[in-house]
Amino acid sequence: MEVVILPSLDDAGELAAARVARLVGAKPDAVLGLATGSSPLPLYRALRRRVEQGLDLSRVRGFALDEYVGLAREDERSYAATIDREVVRPLGLDPARVRVPDGAAADLPAAAQEYERAIAAAGGIDLQILGIGSVGHVGFNEPGSSLASRTRVKTLTERTREDNARFFGPGEEPPAHCLTQGLGTILDARALVLFAGGEAKAAAVAAAVEGAVSSSCPASIIQLHPAVTVYLDEPAAGRLAHAEYYRYAYEHKPAWQRD
Ligand code: GLP
Repeated sequence: MEVVILPSLDDAGELAAARVARLVGAKPDAVLGLATGSSPLPLYRALRRRVEQGLDLSRVRGFALDEYVGLAREDERSYAATIDREVVRPLGLDPARVRVPDGAAADLPAAAQEYERAIAAAGGIDLQILGIGSVGHVGFNEPGSSLASRTRVKTLTERTREDNARFFGPGEEPPAHCLTQGLGTILDARALVLFAGGEAKAAAVAAAVEGAVSSSCPASIIQLHPAVTVYLDEPAAGRLAHAEYYRYAYEHKPAWQRD
């Protein structure tokens, strides 16, 4: 695992965008795992600048991490609408090549299985973009999620619903359930990049990066993956025991180690 501590997530966005550009240069129809939330937005903004300068992402394929159950795709709070608004349209992706779990399906378990089949049919995910929830979730894999889980229905924790209430109107509540790629699904991606900023994420980041691998902190599965980059700002890195070592390793990174 590489832990990169930077002055701001904007710097992380630039680094990760350069990496996406290299990936797409080598494989124009690369498969990205797309995350919603505020943490990956600097990456999407940096990619947009590159698209304006000529980067072509029109053949890139995408699979979103998760979706609320019970919101129509057209609902602006759905992750389908969010991914369309924040990723697909600004970056010039082809909407036909981007999938989001169908949280409005009549048969949710069947929709979850079909999503897994679609990822496999695409040849798997090349680069999975991740944020981390304050409870330590990735996607919507809440504490207690099986480390081997696949795309399925999960019940959201009260904390997650509170964290996400800001996207809903006064008196409205986020849905209680979601469809999310599983921890096993995420581990199958060929590489993971995780973004976290702010002090409110520091405990979850420390548990994920340096704590025990445990379903109590679902993001700790990143320790089981051979190709992970964790991008942090200073406050999010504030509770890491080995922060100085990560800084040293990054400052002395050999040129041949570039991903
Ligand atoms: C939601 C999403 C996660 C995301 C998390 C953190 O719960 N399902 O994929 O990582 O929020 O969001 P933010 O980056 O806005 O803190």
